[in-house]
Amino acid sequence: MNKRIISPSLLSADFSNVLNDIVRVEKLGIDRLHLDIMDGHFVPNITFGPFIIKHIRNVTKSHLESHLMIEEPSKYLDEFIKCGSDTIIIHHEIKESKIDSLKYIRNNNVKSGIAINPDTNYDVISEYIDYIDYVLVMSVFPGFGGQSFIYDTLEKMKQIRKITKNKNILIGVDGGVNIKTIDDVYSTGVDITIVGSGLYGADNIKERYNQLINNEWNNNL
Ligand code: DX5
Ligand code: ZN
Repeated sequence: MNKRIISPSLLSADFSNVLNDIVRVEKLGIDRLHLDIMDGHFVPNITFGPFIIKHIRNVTKSHLESHLMIEEPSKYLDEFIKCGSDTIIIHHEIKESKIDSLKYIRNNNVKSGIAINPDTNYDVISEYIDYIDYVLVMSVFPGFGGQSFIYDTLEKMKQIRKITKNKNILIGVDGGVNIKTIDDVYSTGVDITIVGSGLYGADNIKERYNQLINNEWNNNL
């Protein structure tokens, strides 16, 4: 069994002292961070953009995955590349061409990812397979942290694991992952879980992290 990789979503961090919340998780051995970029258009919420990512880049060596919940990422890719993203994820559900953007991201030596919403069929992944390093399976409808995990998406994770077998593609799961749901998620064979409120919301973050990464923890509840 591979070690579970957790990518904390900074959406649940305290942005008045985000460095503190980055260092807190990095001390646990975490070296990947998830950045939720929302445009108030593709999703009904607005967060932050490349300006903030640049500052985060200056204080961490962790792998930064920028999850772009924005309608026209092609307009901003240069900025998201320049500010130091290591992976850039765009959504299947946007209207513009996805493959052009995925190619552009990779040509700039950044890993490319495609995210799919809970009501999108797994088989759309086939059209991107030659252009992606990462699939982000949304287990909530994007827009807000702290939502409940949608169990129907577990089957999709299994199917995507099959499609990506023998390819160098990571699978991440985003939304509602916590100590109650994480074992089900990893049982599907995915590589990474995004955890926001399920980690930063804990009183004792170290204890929570250990619970999250230990297999079958919730069987003992
Ligand atoms: C949802 C975001 C997620 C979210 C995860 O729109 O893409 O990354 O912040 O937060 P939790 O873990 O609280 O569901
Ligand atoms: Zn996200």
